[in-house]
Amino acid sequence: MKSHDTIRAVQWQDGSLKLLDQRYLPAQEIYLELDDVQSVAKAISDMVVRGAPAIGITAAYGVVIAARGRLRQAPDRWRKAIEADLELLAASRPTAVNLFWALKRMREAIDCAGDSPLEDLLRAAERIHADDLEANHRMGEAGAALIQTGSGVLTHCNTGSLATGGYGTALGVIRSAFIAGKLDQVYADETRPWLQGARLTAWELMRDNIPVTLLADGAAASLMQQGKVQWVIVGADRITANGDVANKIGTYSLAVNARYHSKKYGVKFMVVAPTSTVDMELACGIDIPIEHRDPAEVLMLNGQRVSPAGAQAWNPAFDVTPAELVDVIVTERGIVESPTTNRLAAMMKNPS
Ligand code: MRU
Repeated sequence: MKSHDTIRAVQWQDGSLKLLDQRYLPAQEIYLELDDVQSVAKAISDMVVRGAPAIGITAAYGVVIAARGRLRQAPDRWRKAIEADLELLAASRPTAVNLFWALKRMREAIDCAGDSPLEDLLRAAERIHADDLEANHRMGEAGAALIQTGSGVLTHCNTGSLATGGYGTALGVIRSAFIAGKLDQVYADETRPWLQGARLTAWELMRDNIPVTLLADGAAASLMQQGKVQWVIVGADRITANGDVANKIGTYSLAVNARYHSKKYGVKFMVVAPTSTVDMELACGIDIPIEHRDPAEVLMLNGQRVSPAGAQAWNPAFDVTPAELVDVIVTERGIVESPTTNRLAAMMKNPS
């Protein structure tokens, strides 16, 4: 239903990459047009674009832009010269494995490119983008099928059209469940310190006519204690081979709280992510590189200091939820209940 799915944050238009600048939402809707790979890498680091799948898609278009520059400069040596651009893009953010997955796919496209390399690379980037959108629709259906009518759901960060090729992962499940008339209430954590929940998820859901109630991150346990939530539904930046899940800081607390309230109130914890987020090369979550961001994100709010001068801050952008706290992982290739290494490996063998 179009009215519940209207936003596209990453677009390729007339040979340029167009990004909705998420730093200014919800106050201003500004689109940036990027024509050089340095700007693309900076847009990812500065969080003009964010969310694991959207970062991967943006990097893929970044490779097309890089190839255009390198082909202009040195048509005979572009394949060697573009390596520096791939490295620049890879250094933009460390945790979301979708970035490295997309760069690997684009490197393969570079290796196979024929007489019209730019067309070949654009086709590869557009395929990554289109596949993500399709995966989100599939996950939306599969995840919504697990939800009983009349449920309350709680989500964290922003995992919607703003964070993906469109529709969203966890928010895709919430979209599909809402369209199916299954949801009593959608709750969203504000998601300190960057406020992805308050600024982005609330904006996206309201724009798409899905009512949402915001809460401070610290209020989530009380919400569960009141029996208002049946499912906590989140996305992921990286899922390791055993089912450990790196996602926005605060996700782990939600999983602990969900498990504590599972017996009495039936709260369950669902992770929704495409297989491009699954890193089968890492055995478990302890090895996931966790990005630490500028302490100013914690010490300040909207450019205003909210802490005494000289105070220090610890600002990890992600945490790791152990697989044992996850009730179900939903991917486009199938769902994995109570994830283990064997179950995840079996799901990864399913056709995409
Ligand atoms: O720092 P961000 O905003 O890029 O973090 C985003 C998240 O943690 C999302 O939950 C995750 O990338 C999944 S998005 C579909």
